[in-house]
Amino acid sequence: MPDFDLESFVLEMRAAARADEPIKKVRDAMTRAFRDPAAIRAAMPEYENDDEILFEDDSVSIWFVRFAPGLHVPPHDHQTTATIGVYAGAEDNHFYLCEPGKLVHKSSRRVGPGEVIAIKPDGIHSVEAADGKDSCGIHVYLAALTKIERSLFDWNSGDVRPYTEENYDAMKRIAG
Ligand SMILES: [Fe+2]
Repeated sequence: MPDFDLESFVLEMRAAARADEPIKKVRDAMTRAFRDPAAIRAAMPEYENDDEILFEDDSVSIWFVRFAPGLHVPPHDHQTTATIGVYAGAEDNHFYLCEPGKLVHKSSRRVGPGEVIAIKPDGIHSVEAADGKDSCGIHVYLAALTKIERSLFDWNSGDVRPYTEENYDAMKRIAG
């Protein structure tokens, strides 16, 4: 296997997203690419921002995502399949179900270097960096994420709010 090449990876994801069974194809291709997280680490640029859109069209969005210690991203959905691969640090993903009047925590999953998970369109998760270290990953969504109307969920009541920057800032949790 050659070293990781971001341009080739983006092309591979674009092809997978347009193939039959895109969910499986993207997941399989991500799993292959993330077998060597050190190669991804070595190849990825040092982005200044915590989020960087690497590619987006109507079939796929590919993001660089960094979670810094202390920030807990509020519960949200994606309205499309989200496939998440981590190449540095680890993400703690917490999964919830919305029940009448409350948000119920169901499970948590630490996603470390080389691991890939897929979240269904109606899956609700919150995310934070694990072990007090930055986590870096690539997130692939099977739609134009910036055009989708997504939801945030109140930590306690599960009340649904539009996924806007203002609501996100009001709901995010900062440690310390
Ligand atoms: Fe998410």
